[in-house]
Amino acid sequence: MIEIRSCSGFEELEACVQLQVETRGYDASDVVPRKAFRVAQAIGGQVLGAFDTELAVGTGAGRAESLVGFVFSWPGMKTGEGQPRAYLHSHMLAVREAYRNRGLGRQLKLEQRLEALSRGIRYMEWTFDPLEIKNAFLNIHRLGVTVRSYLVDFYGVSSSRLQGGLPTDRLLAEWRLDSPHVQSVIEGRARNSLVIDEVIQVPATIYEWKTSAAGREKALAVQMENRQKFLEAFSRGLAVIGFVRDAEGNGSFELGHPTQLELN
Ligand SMILES: CC(C)(COP(=O)(O)OP(=O)(O)OC[C@H]1O[C@@H](n2cnc3c(N)ncnc32)[C@H](O)[C@@H]1OP(=O)(O)O)[C@@H](O)C(=O)NCCC(=O)NCCS
Repeated sequence: MIEIRSCSGFEELEACVQLQVETRGYDASDVVPRKAFRVAQAIGGQVLGAFDTELAVGTGAGRAESLVGFVFSWPGMKTGEGQPRAYLHSHMLAVREAYRNRGLGRQLKLEQRLEALSRGIRYMEWTFDPLEIKNAFLNIHRLGVTVRSYLVDFYGVSSSRLQGGLPTDRLLAEWRLDSPHVQSVIEGRARNSLVIDEVIQVPATIYEWKTSAAGREKALAVQMENRQKFLEAFSRGLAVIGFVRDAEGNGSFELGHPTQLELN
């Protein structure tokens, strides 16, 4: 049985650090240390863990080894438009490989949403790699995020094995936690058909290309081409409002006018 709850105690936070390294292959320059998780908890962020209760050998700190996934956010403050507004920036989501593709990543995000709403926080952001088809599908199609910003080489050089040595370009996911759009997506309700003005594609072979020196040039070419397309589309007021994958695993970002979605 999987239990999702707030992590407590240093050992559970250390287990998050270890899972972070295991899932991304980070070196010391990228890893978020236990102290940062602790501070995030203390200042209104979230460190939620998914625990496989069958792996637990004890109680309290002894349960750290049963951590199979976590999601972690910092609190943030939006200023400039009216009253300052508290929100959460979700910095990391990870699920142990053997537990993937059975809905755990989605469940962690949904728990994050409920916890935020229970404190009156109605908005969350995070960044994700536009070349990661699976993450895009989960974020846009299954959680209902929208995207209007493209961040060029956001983190600089990264030791993440998922990055494949490419620039760390990111899309900024905007999750309006109690919007009618998000509610209908997470409840799996059919949406009205939307007008799609542009489609930006990512080939399924991107994963393989990122793992070899020969393929990396091809992956970089896709990244550069899509970077231009996203920047140009966002400058025209378009937003990512949908994402589809085909039978071969290729992904397509669907862009259109966000006014078509009930976002507030
Ligand atoms: C991203 C991650 C957290 C997702 O966790 P997960 O538990 O596997 O996610 P879920 O099972 O809830 O959802 C994944 C969805 O993507 C789908 N999917 C799986 N592989 C896919 C692919 N290659 N292309 C498109 N969609 C894919 C799954 O079918 C599932 O959709 P469904 O619920 O409609 O069936 C996990 O893969 C992971 O830890 N990856 C490494 C770290 C990472 O990339 N973190 C996110 C950035 S911070």
